This record gives sequence, structure tokens and C-alpha cells, in this order.
Amino acid sequence: MRKPVIAGNWKMHKTISEGFEFIDGIKDKVKDTDVEVMIFVPCTMLKSMKDYTKGTNIVIGAQNMHFEEKGAFTGEISPLMLKDINVKNTLIGHSERREYFNETDETVNKKILKAMEHDIDVVLCVGEKLEEREKNIEKEVVKEQIVKAFADVSAKMFDKIVIAYEPIWAIGTGKTASSKDADEMIAFIRSEIENLYNDEISENVRILYGGSVKPANVEELMNQDDIDGGLVGGASLEAEQFVELVNF
Ligand code: PGA
Repeated sequence: MRKPVIAGNWKMHKTISEGFEFIDGIKDKVKDTDVEVMIFVPCTMLKSMKDYTKGTNIVIGAQNMHFEEKGAFTGEISPLMLKDINVKNTLIGHSERREYFNETDETVNKKILKAMEHDIDVVLCVGEKLEEREKNIEKEVVKEQIVKAFADVSAKMFDKIVIAYEPIWAIGTGKTASSKDADEMIAFIRSEIENLYNDEISENVRILYGGSVKPANVEELMNQDDIDGGLVGGASLEAEQFVELVNF
């Protein structure tokens, strides 16, 4: 049985005091859930949010991480810096990083390998653009992202990896992929993981859907066979909605 995940991605939203207020609003309401609850927050609040959520079941993670441990990389954060503040989870390869900050399949791969080296859990994001779906090449695109992201990643690292399928055209647009389309792609990703590794890894790896997940559609998405959870942007910013998502 794969444990479901609801992961909030706050992107460039919230100050520390707003983050604390959010946690006050959710912590008692999500404490008995069987769902794994994660929030990926801006780096300015990583430490305070990590400290503030101590003793709760809320996992705080970073939205990005560099693949070097240190060096002349202005504005970046290294795995050592995350470990220094006890943060052991990060998103890698979000489509906004790929689109606006030159993240490539190669840097994604280096980041995953570096995270594994430092025992940092990863949520790898993949997904096609609208024009790629219109050309019916979405599976090839996602397959390439998966194959390149996991180059040299060994099977035994897979208990530290979650995959999030986020079709770019569905992010922040209010357009959700139909639950059937999302499930079909996620089943396809699972079969690719089986091709790359083995049946056991593909059966156990958790694969989330992301792109305009909200309380109104979460249940239907979660009822699909292969969808193990949601990576949620907009609807993760408001405590009440986030609680509804976790308690789908
Ligand atoms: P959204 O964002 O829920 O606002 O569409 C999802 C994401 O980018 O992770």
C-alpha cells in the first residue's frame, strides 16, 4: 500500500508570520491523518518553519537545491545548508524552475544524485507543455524527463524519491487534467519506472498529480488507481483549503 501524499508548494508566497499562522490553522486538523503532509516553503522561512513544526506530522521542504556543496553560485542553496537546518526534503525540477531559471534534465539529474548523497528526499517534477500535448508527444516528453532525471540513480535510492506529474498547461490555470488523463500518464510513468528498475520499485514509488488540484477535485483524483497524491500550489496557500485536501 502506498501512503498518499498531499504536498503544498508555496512558490514565492508568504512571510514567516504568515507561515506560522498557517501552521496554527492546520496542525490540529491534520494530525490524525494517514496522509503524508508536506509543505515546500521559500528559503527565507525554511528554518523557522522547520522549528515551528517540530513535533507535528508536517514535513517542511525546500523548493530547490543546488547540486554543488559550496562555491561561487550566487543566490543558490546547497544540500549542506539544508542539512544544517535539518531540512531533509526538496522539490527538484519544478516546471517554473525549468522555464524561468534554466533548469535542464541534466541539472535535475545532478541535483537528485547530490540529494541522495546527502540523504535528502526528493519530489521530482515532470510534465509536458500544452503544445507537446497538442502534438500528442506528451508521453515521449515525460519519458525523456524521467530517463534523464534518473540516470545513475540506483534502485535502492527509491525510498527517498517521489515523482510529481504536473502538466504545465494545468499549473495555476484552473485547468485540471481530467482524472483519467492524469491517471493514464501516471500509470505510464509507473511502467517506465518498471522498465528502468523493476516491478517492486514501480509498485512502491509514489507518483503525485499536480496542476490546479483543489478541494473540489481532490477526491476524484485520489480515487484513481495510480495517483498517490497531489502537489498543490494555489490551493495550498489557504489553511482551510489545505486541510480539506489532506482530509480528502
Ligand atoms: P497549482 O500549482 O496547484 O497552483 O496549479 C501546482 C504546482 O505548480 O506545483
